[in-house]
This record gives sequence, C-alpha cells and structure tokens, in this order.
Amino acid sequence: MIFEGVITTANADGAAHIAPMGFQREGDEVSISPFVPSTTLVNLKRDGRAVMNLSDDVRIIAGCLTGRRAWPVQRATVIDGWRISDSLAHLELTVSDCQEHPERPRFRCRVVYEANHAAFRGFNRAQAAVLEAAILYSRLEWLAPDKLASEMAYLAIAVGKTAGDRERIAWQWLVEAMAEHPRHRLRLEQRA
Ligand SMILES: Cc1cc2nc3c(=O)[nH]c(=O)nc-3n(C[C@H](O)[C@H](O)[C@H](O)COP(=O)(O)O)c2cc1C
Repeated sequence: MIFEGVITTANADGAAHIAPMGFQREGDEVSISPFVPSTTLVNLKRDGRAVMNLSDDVRIIAGCLTGRRAWPVQRATVIDGWRISDSLAHLELTVSDCQEHPERPRFRCRVVYEANHAAFRGFNRAQAAVLEAAILYSRLEWLAPDKLASEMAYLAIAVGKTAGDRERIAWQWLVEAMAEHPRHRLRLEQRA
C-alpha cells in the first residue's frame, strides 16, 4: 500500500528541504523512491536521514509544487533533522540501504522514532481532490490538455461541495499554476 506524505530532508547547509513524497511501510521499515534528479535524492544520499510528515493540510502539498516551500519546521526528536510543525504525526527515518536505479532509486529506511500530534479528523473529498490535482500537476509535461481539463472539472465538484479554507487555497494555487502553464493554459468553467 502506498501512502502520501511530506518528506523533510536536510540540505548541505543544514536547512530543511520539504517535498511531497509517496512511501510504503512494513513494520519498522519505510521505503521511499525519489526521482532522478531531485533534491530529496541528493539529501538522502548525503545525509541518510529524513522525516516523513503526515499532514492533512493540503496547502503544504500544493504549496511545495507551486513554489511555496516556507512551511514552519522544528527540530526532530531523535535524529538531527527537521519535522513540519503542523502535522498529525511524523516518522523519523535513517536510511538502511539504497537500491540504485537510473530513474528512481529505492531507499529502505528504519523508523527510529514516531509520534502522533493530533487525531485523524475523517476523510474529506476536497483533500483527496487536491491530492489528485497535485499528482496531475506533477505530470503536466506528459498529460494531454483535454485530459487535464476533464479530470480537473471532475475534481472541482468535490472541492466545490466539501472544501474548507485550506483546501480552497491549495486548489486555487494549483489551478492558477495550471492556467499559466504554456502547453495547458487551463481554464475551468465556473460552476454555480
Ligand atoms: C502526492 C505526491 C506524491 C509524490 N511522490 C513522489 C515520489 O514518490 N517520488 C518523487 O520523486 N516525487 C514524488 N512527488 C513529486 C515531488 O514532490 C516533486 O517532484 C518534488 O519537487 C521532489 O523534488 P525535490 O526533492 O527536488 O524537491 C510527489 C508529488 C505529489 C504531489
């Protein structure tokens, strides 16, 4: 099963780098597959430590993709690293090994510490829609403009019906960025 989280790694100067990232977990082992090239990959190889942050604030995901990466972080508990301050839970990880791959190396990591900070509030369709829109956004170079437009029109229904402020803001950031993309220039019809 693949979950979606937000990974924090340390840059060479010690500053936090934040990126949405899928992961798999089995017991105390977490697997992460960052693409080549990516800052997360470089940081994991150099430092061997990371935090997987579990948050329902979809602004963090949409924000990272659209150039808004300055989310509040604080020191992790047992590793020398950073965690996102506003998360429901976080896992502190050390890399056990790296399976090399030309496009997507796979890091196996050990969970050396984990903590819950707030309860799961329940499923929300707008959060799921923003997540899907973020995935679409990360594939804009390959996606056909018609496909993007129809998928976004469908996802917009759940956002319109069930979003709170955070979801509306995150959605707006993605829609604006898609509207500016030279191959897509997405225009969503306004629904009543
Ligand atoms: C929900 C979601 C899941 C993602 N999962 C991955 C992943 O598993 N591996 C990856 O390399 N990028 C993934 N991405 C894309 C990265 O977040 C994005 O490319 C990011 O900029 C990583 O590059 P960076 O480390 O250079 O910032 C995901 C994006 C989203 C929205």
